[in-house]
Amino acid sequence: MAKARVQFVCQNCGAAHQRWAGKCDSCGEWNTLVEEGTSGGIGSGPGSLKSARKGRAVTLTSLDGDIEDAPRIVSGIGELDRATGGGFVRGSALLIGGDPGIGKSTLLTQAAAALASRGHRVVYVSGEEAVAQIRLRAQRLGVASTPVELAAETNVEDILATIADGKRPDLVIIDSIQTLWTDLADSAPGTVTQVRAASQAMIRYAKSTGAAVVLVGHVTKEGQIAGPRVVEHMVDGVLYFEGEGGHHYRILRTVKNRFGPTDEIGVFEMSDKGLREVANPSELFLGERHAKSPGAAVFAAIEGTRPVLVEIQALVAPSTLGTPRRAVVGWDSPRLSMILAVLEAHCGVRFGQHDVYLNVAGGYRISEPAADLAVASALVSSLTGIALPADCVYFGEISLSGAVRPVAHAQQRLKEAEKLGFGRAVLPSGSGDIAGGTNAGTFQPSALADLVARIAGSKRSRAEETD
Ligand code: TYD
Ligand code: MG
Repeated sequence: MAKARVQFVCQNCGAAHQRWAGKCDSCGEWNTLVEEGTSGGIGSGPGSLKSARKGRAVTLTSLDGDIEDAPRIVSGIGELDRATGGGFVRGSALLIGGDPGIGKSTLLTQAAAALASRGHRVVYVSGEEAVAQIRLRAQRLGVASTPVELAAETNVEDILATIADGKRPDLVIIDSIQTLWTDLADSAPGTVTQVRAASQAMIRYAKSTGAAVVLVGHVTKEGQIAGPRVVEHMVDGVLYFEGEGGHHYRILRTVKNRFGPTDEIGVFEMSDKGLREVANPSELFLGERHAKSPGAAVFAAIEGTRPVLVEIQALVAPSTLGTPRRAVVGWDSPRLSMILAVLEAHCGVRFGQHDVYLNVAGGYRISEPAADLAVASALVSSLTGIALPADCVYFGEISLSGAVRPVAHAQQRLKEAEKLGFGRAVLPSGSGDIAGGTNAGTFQPSALADLVARIAGSKRSRAEETD
């Protein structure tokens, strides 16, 4: 009889090794190898099956054919539907990741209730909480009377047998994938092998029946879905639910979506009665603004298809260190170094003796290069101590040559700014014609130096006024 083989699987990247080692060769992480059996189950390799099964012929089909009437199930929670690209897709599997306690179970309980009350069959399977705890949450959310079918179970085979009973569910929620285990794999729940095998079983169920499956996954402190990055590749969509400690709002961000755009966000606010939709995020991110302080600039961002105004705050302070500090929250750190270099090289603004801190207000995260102009303005404003006009928005990309480059969606950004009472704008030259209603309040520099001169000049003109 062949000896039962064991292998050591990295819990970070999923690579299998023959021998235990302190460090995983494939991803370089320490202490992540765990012994797992290879006998049977998914991922065990072709050689280990007891008797090779003869392949079964599947029916080949054409691209053109009947599809179900409504391929998407709309929850009615606008921000959730926006992030999923217009609702849950039938027959697809979606992974929702996030830190513990961020509100994943709350969001899914609310979505389940909304769908169930619209007449869909929704099954909520929790492997983490007892039925009583889930009921308590449902009561708090005021949805206890909705016909959501509930179970506290962790075995995949039992779950599949349960939901196979009766009418096919429209949506199956598994909270969380890390607690599931299947008879097919013999390692402990939460290990890569188990998570992979259990996810695969649930994904196969979704594809074969046409039910939408939502898997909840925990995220490690490094920001990855704990252990099984592999799951991200298997599912049709990945959403991250994120939020900053101390802030009440939460952002549902699309990271992967086979059926829709990946740059959409849904914004929620956590209240004592669950998550509340925030339809106009700009008001939220600008909420705590102190208009007259130097170092703050309002950036008109585009998030997916929707404009969002956020405040960028900079603090430039004399440094006592040999190498001054540069700290960034909510933006790209190399990008800050680039802006500082451009300001030094092309505009004669010196930061060599100063610590620089940059923060995007409210814990929001920006990835657009269009924020360059707002960042540069905030930095110059803080260094010179000159407050920027409170009713002005900034957007534009800065190139290494110090030129200000146009960015997309200028008109949308301006419209949002106008809606929120911002009468002035600093934007790249050349966007004027696109912007349409160019009014007296816009300034369109073609070089960053022009903007720096204008900010510095605004003090002079103000000083003259008071003379
Ligand atoms: P939960 O959905 O259990 O988080 P996760 O499933 O991501 O681990 O949410 C937990 C937090 O949300 C908890 O700290 C309490 C808070 N909360 C509210 O503030 N209001 C509410 O109505 C609910 C249900 C939870
Ligand atoms: Mg939970």
